[in-house]
Amino acid sequence: QKMRSKIVAGNWKMNKNSAETEALLTELAAKLPDTQAEVMVAPTFVNLQSAVKQLESSTIEVIAQNMHFGESGAYTGEISADMLLDIGIDTVIIGHSERRAYFGETDEILAKKVKTALKKNMRVMFCFGEELDDRKSENHFNVVETQLKNALFSLDASAWTSIILAYEPVWAIGTGETASPEQAQEMHAFIRKTITDAYDTSIATNVSILYGGSVKPANAEEIFSKPDVDGGLIGGASLVADDFVAIIEAI
Ligand code: G3P
Repeated sequence: QKMRSKIVAGNWKMNKNSAETEALLTELAAKLPDTQAEVMVAPTFVNLQSAVKQLESSTIEVIAQNMHFGESGAYTGEISADMLLDIGIDTVIIGHSERRAYFGETDEILAKKVKTALKKNMRVMFCFGEELDDRKSENHFNVVETQLKNALFSLDASAWTSIILAYEPVWAIGTGETASPEQAQEMHAFIRKTITDAYDTSIATNVSILYGGSVKPANAEEIFSKPDVDGGLIGGASLVADDFVAIIEAI
């Protein structure tokens, strides 16, 4: 039975210029611990090509924070899948809550992005998660199930080997308010069940489900110890080498 991958990914968001990117990657590469986990970093678009070159002899994978669904053309300011592949990027984060909240990315747009990325044989790290109001009204399971259904559940079963899921409760992102390990496990188990119902247990068992939302060195081990948590998508703590390394050591 294929074991699903353990993954620790750093989402740098809109941070680090070229010199700061180079310095952080130098420190990360030097301090990277031995680990079974896949380690990924997502610098900003303008630093991706140099990051790929800098890490070509490292096991750290450079991934993109976003991409457009179009092949090419009149989409001012956007980046296509082919442009990412051209510089050695073949994994892309799609659907981060900040893209949904600030840039109007609807489930429909995200479904198109996922479709394009898979057509280009890229791996997709699909982000989703409820808002605080959803959780307070105990509607969080419905919200998460709807997000998954709208963007992913029309995919062929074979496509799921190229999907990584990242559950990020919006109320835990950047707030220092982390979901408890029990809350993370409960939702991850629910996600696996919805995938089992939509597809089968093999797909549900083999998909990696990461948790994101204020993961820090102090809480990473307990969150990662949960059976249905396969790693983390790390924001703020990924911008500090020692913190990101400590989180990698926790998996
Ligand atoms: O994509 C990861 C991010 O949303 C989590 O951010 O700063 O709470 O770790 P942070």
